[in-house]
Amino acid sequence: MLHPVILSGGSGTRLWPLSRQNQPKQFLALIGDHSLYQETVLRASKLPGAQAPVTVCSEDHRFMVGEQLQGIGVASGGILLEPVARSTAPAIALAALHVLARDPAATLLVMPADHLIEDEVAFRSAVEAATSLAEQDWLVTFGITPEYAETGYGYILRGESLGDGGYRVQRFVEKPDLATAEGYLVEGTYAWNSGMFLFRAQRYLDELARHAPTVLEAAQAAMAASTSDLDFIRVGHDALAASPSDSIDYAVMEKTDRAAVVPVRCGWSDIGSWSSLWSVAQRDDDGNRYEGDVIAVDTRDSLVRASERRMIATIGVEDLVIVDTADATLVARKDRVQDVKAVVDRLKAAG
Ligand code: GDD
Ligand code: MG
Repeated sequence: MLHPVILSGGSGTRLWPLSRQNQPKQFLALIGDHSLYQETVLRASKLPGAQAPVTVCSEDHRFMVGEQLQGIGVASGGILLEPVARSTAPAIALAALHVLARDPAATLLVMPADHLIEDEVAFRSAVEAATSLAEQDWLVTFGITPEYAETGYGYILRGESLGDGGYRVQRFVEKPDLATAEGYLVEGTYAWNSGMFLFRAQRYLDELARHAPTVLEAAQAAMAASTSDLDFIRVGHDALAASPSDSIDYAVMEKTDRAAVVPVRCGWSDIGSWSSLWSVAQRDDDGNRYEGDVIAVDTRDSLVRASERRMIATIGVEDLVIVDTADATLVARKDRVQDVKAVVDRLKAAG
């Protein structure tokens, strides 16, 4: 059976000042009425034959996750709470162990909680294709046709066709530099790694045993030391802390010879920064996206988000991001918003 696993451990620092440590971006309603996490849960629940989704998140966010699930009335397949973050390879291992205890033939569909998918029909058929490859023991990743030379994503070079709309992965390159990414765009045989995966749970654990045994051992020990309370399963702190911090990309997908890619065009984006939010949001004829009380005169291609406490007026500006909150305001050039991370780092350093 197909078990969606929703990874919700990130903090989304590049969406500061809206996203904060106790309010990461996946729990914010950035586009529409639902949060990105809720959208992901709803998308997963609509897949034919999908079981109740399993969430893996930080212990600090348990109430938010509980409330947000209740808000959309979706039954939970369990909420695994991490007392420390150790990246995606152990997080997925925890979910695999949790699900296998109930369903030894489980297939996992791993979905990050902070993505947008506009074409759910295309996504659903890609999941179908991936499911049949997973039955033949492939570890499938979903490859997105690149639209520009993004350096914040992993890239996948596809090899021979496997039928069912899938290809063998020839090469995996995590976050190349700009010149390399530009080359890949020209070549046309590279896809963005969407960070969504589909495989049999047991097969994933077998690959971990081969390529990252310390991650597997830590996850097993963390599950053995877990305590549960209703839907919440708090995994063992010391055991998880002993795991190396490894992403699934580095720990498994780059190393296994059973990696496959299913290319898909489904209006996918990772809402990683204010500029990516601007690019997926609905804009007016001047290319502006406003939220709240905003008056814009001769303003172009900007994202302006007013908070409830004051209005914002702009005159004669372009390509700006302005985001106001109760205690902080960001004003940035749209092509510099990746550096919001530097602001957050300074704030952290200042304590
Ligand atoms: N539960 C849990 N625990 N979730 C985690 C953890 C963790 O320790 N670390 C990361 N995640 C979640 C994040 O919340 C996010 O939804 C997802 O896993 C991916 O982690 P990111 O930190 O956002 O990874 P990335 O953006 O640098 O890169 C990955 O995603 C790209 C696409 O968005 C890679 O897979 C790239 O290759 C890929 O292109
Ligand atoms: Mg990301």
